[in-house]
Amino acid sequence: MSEIVLKKATMQDVPQIFELVNSFADEHMMLPRPLGSLYENIRDFVIAREDGEVVGVGALHVLWKDLGEIRSLAVKKEASRRGIGRQIVDYLKEEARSLEIPELFSLTYQREFFENCGFELVSKDTFPHKVWTDCINCIKFPNCDELAMKLVL
Ligand SMILES: CC(C)(COP(=O)(O)OP(=O)(O)OC[C@H]1O[C@@H](n2cnc3c(N)ncnc32)[C@H](O)[C@@H]1OP(=O)(O)O)[C@@H](O)C(=O)NCCC(=O)NCCS
Repeated sequence: MSEIVLKKATMQDVPQIFELVNSFADEHMMLPRPLGSLYENIRDFVIAREDGEVVGVGALHVLWKDLGEIRSLAVKKEASRRGIGRQIVDYLKEEARSLEIPELFSLTYQREFFENCGFELVSKDTFPHKVWTDCINCIKFPNCDELAMKLVL
């Protein structure tokens, strides 16, 4: 096994991020991300690279002065259960701390993984309206079946 390197994504990484995120979206495990949305939000993204290949990805999206969202978290199936997902979340937590964002949340089907990363299950009602503005563009709107998980940093 080679070394895993975590770094902020650049435009060159976008095709591999697109492939990774949308392969899981095709299996209804996460939401799809159009290419345009990846380019527009490239500064949100961190990647995990192994032997020059993107094996993991995740994004920190700032929602409000005191709230950030972890989005588009995905680790290649062949690279799963090696701690890469947790490393990405730790990187994004550190980024949130450096931005002085005190609270993170994620909408997810991966309850146990997020609990392992220190998040707790909360009611969706606890979040401000701003959280739901993107949901209007979601294919599942208004029947969201994802779980809301929260972490106070
Ligand atoms: C969820 C996902 C990101 C986890 O990545 P990963 O690199 O395999 O996870 P890690 O190896 O860092 O796991 C960290 C901990 O969570 C646990 N864990 C990981 N996936 C789990 C799962 N599906 N169910 C239960 N526990 C899980 C691990 O066992 C590990 O626990 P430990 O520290 O006690 O050993 C990855 O499986 C994935 O990309 N899934 C498909 C896309 C998806 O659902 N993304 C989330 C959208 S928000």
